[in-house]
Amino acid sequence: MSQHKVFVTRELPAPALDRLARHCELDVWDDFLPPDYAILLQKAQSLSGLLCLLTDRIDARLLAAAPHLKVVSNMAVGYDNIDVAAASARGIPVGNTPGVLTETTADFAFALLMATARRIPEAQRYIHAGRWQTWHPTVLSGRDIHGACLGIIGFGRIGQAVARRAAGFGMRILTHSRSDREHSRAAGAEPCELDDLLEQSDFVSLHLPLTHETRQFIGARELALMKPTAILINTARGGVVDQTALYEALRDKAILAAGLDVTDPEPIPLSSPLLTLENCLVLPHIASASVATRAKMAQMAVDNCLAGLRGERLPTCVNAEVYSKR
Ligand code: DGY
Repeated sequence: MSQHKVFVTRELPAPALDRLARHCELDVWDDFLPPDYAILLQKAQSLSGLLCLLTDRIDARLLAAAPHLKVVSNMAVGYDNIDVAAASARGIPVGNTPGVLTETTADFAFALLMATARRIPEAQRYIHAGRWQTWHPTVLSGRDIHGACLGIIGFGRIGQAVARRAAGFGMRILTHSRSDREHSRAAGAEPCELDDLLEQSDFVSLHLPLTHETRQFIGARELALMKPTAILINTARGGVVDQTALYEALRDKAILAAGLDVTDPEPIPLSSPLLTLENCLVLPHIASASVATRAKMAQMAVDNCLAGLRGERLPTCVNAEVYSKR
């Protein structure tokens, strides 16, 4: 298998990369920033395997330029950066890394919820600005988390892991998702229609994949249904929220605050009006960023890549239809 050429679009944790290197001819992009699309296109011509990140656009043109490509392995659970239909049409399996990042991402969604509700970044800025003069009965008062109502939109692995954390805080949990309602009930949550969830929740946490159907899923209409005291948390993908509508809702205090780990585009431009708001906490897409989890994601991406090179079924494949066509 060592004649197989594999391009890895960034340095990965060493154990995973070393393992891959033992089985193929490896080309690792060692810049901090992703390779340009033109570079990807040029490299694609001779590749058998591509191990990429969510920052790499793998579209139909790129796949067409890669006649020997046997596998695309994305080091992420989300794969909206890949034209999966085009890969399937070419019989190329696409792998992702579900499961290993679930708990870490849920920890972070909850951290974001708590930081936003209790105004932690704002309180730190307050100290650094020399504004802490005394204990005051109303200064920096936030919203209670315990006993509040959490609406979870998208009740897959990460949504469920967030619900488990919320249960520990005695929260009422509402869910809106494609999965069956019994599933939510079994987790102690109440499945409901989107509008009911938006109207009743004190916190709304998004756990949807980005697809044609979910793009701008939360727009002006949905934000207008939320309580003026409600907080929106997004650790899914920036594209599921209409950011202009969100900016207006936050600016006009139509909702209280937002905690965003993801934006559209990424990185968020420093000129984005969202960054001017005291009630919007924006973080640089780090929900899965624990040392242990990133190491596991890299190993899983290598497992998928190696399986694809061997012509075996990928352990976690997002387009299993490629196997039925064979
Ligand atoms: C994913 O895996 O899709 C996350 O967004 C990155 O951790």
